[in-house]
Amino acid sequence: MADLKVNVNGITFKNPVLTAAGPNVRNAELMLKAVAGGAGGVVSKTVSLKPAHDLRPTIRRAVCQGIMNCETWSETPFEEMLEEYRKVKETGVPLIISIGYKPEEVKKLGSIIEKEVAPDAIEFSTHYVGGEIGPLIEVARSLRETVKLPIWMKISPNFPYVKELASRVSEYVDAFVAINSYGPVLNFDVESMEPLLGSEYGQGWLSGPPILPIALRIVYEIATVQDKPVIGVGGIEKGVDAIKFFMVGASIVQVCSAAIKRGHTVYGKIAREIEEWLDAHGYRSIEEIKGLYKEKLKERRKFSKIPVMTIDENKCTGCKACISRCIQGALYMDGKVAKVIGENCIGCGYCQDYCGYGAMKLQEV
Ligand SMILES: Cc1cc2nc3c(=O)[nH]c(=O)nc-3n(C[C@H](O)[C@H](O)[C@H](O)COP(=O)(O)O)c2cc1C
Repeated sequence: MADLKVNVNGITFKNPVLTAAGPNVRNAELMLKAVAGGAGGVVSKTVSLKPAHDLRPTIRRAVCQGIMNCETWSETPFEEMLEEYRKVKETGVPLIISIGYKPEEVKKLGSIIEKEVAPDAIEFSTHYVGGEIGPLIEVARSLRETVKLPIWMKISPNFPYVKELASRVSEYVDAFVAINSYGPVLNFDVESMEPLLGSEYGQGWLSGPPILPIALRIVYEIATVQDKPVIGVGGIEKGVDAIKFFMVGASIVQVCSAAIKRGHTVYGKIAREIEEWLDAHGYRSIEEIKGLYKEKLKERRKFSKIPVMTIDENKCTGCKACISRCIQGALYMDGKVAKVIGENCIGCGYCQDYCGYGAMKLQEV
């Protein structure tokens, strides 16, 4: 059986599935439920010096199995959270405390938390720090000057210069966490025109499966420009989602929306699915698949001219699933099999995703 144990910044996690900051880890009771549900480590809801006051409703269903929210940070004063953290620390499960936002805030919170709780690491959220590199580095540097604990920097997906930020800030932090929820986004009920969320005009942040590809791209970029560990988060619902994050360079992962949707046992379930996938593919540890995507890219087939879709008539079952997927009119049925009109095909590859029989392949002809 594959070994799920991982070590990041000298912290040993019994499995690589941690909680991500959110309502799922708002207090000790919920954090302990996550531990009982199999989480390999706990990252708590972000606290700041002043408690938040979020307008209700704060969490709604969104497109493509996602979630939209307008939660900001913890509504519980951080002084009250100190006791909550201690209860989690007693379990021996690695505890990472999330804080925000301005340099003077993280300095104060960081030093109190290091002294009073001594968690395994401190994560800081950059969600409300803006899009300029300078202020983001400033927060990281302030925290570095203040605490000795490992520092995890959480990256927001709307930040445009991720590679530059990661390489420049790497000296101040011990790991990166990518990504926070995406947005702002907006949705409302079309009949009543009521916003779904209680925020100013119904705007909020998108999370869950719709943001998984954004998160993969950002984890890949961070992992390729610097050497500090990267923690993947965004849309993970199943073991194979997490496997993709390891392949693009993540060391461990975090989960928030899937827990909101499916409860506290989701962490352990994802961990078991990771183990099953590794076993089924002959890998003994996460380390063995970490960064494999970049390696494989070197062997990628490249076309020297525009390819055309080809169909293996022995494999085509005549199911017609591809036919309506070609807006170019390059596919037609010839008796019981699908065929391609070469001069209409633009080699986009889209129809191939609907062939469940492996009968379609792009080729240079
Ligand atoms: C309702 C809600 C509240 C959240 N609160 C925080 C927070 O306080 N601090 C933070 O860094 N991220 C917060 N997040 C972002 C998550 O930690 C996570 O980065 C993001 O949702 C993507 O992961 P997911 O798709 O597994 O949810 C929140 C997400 C949701 C859905």
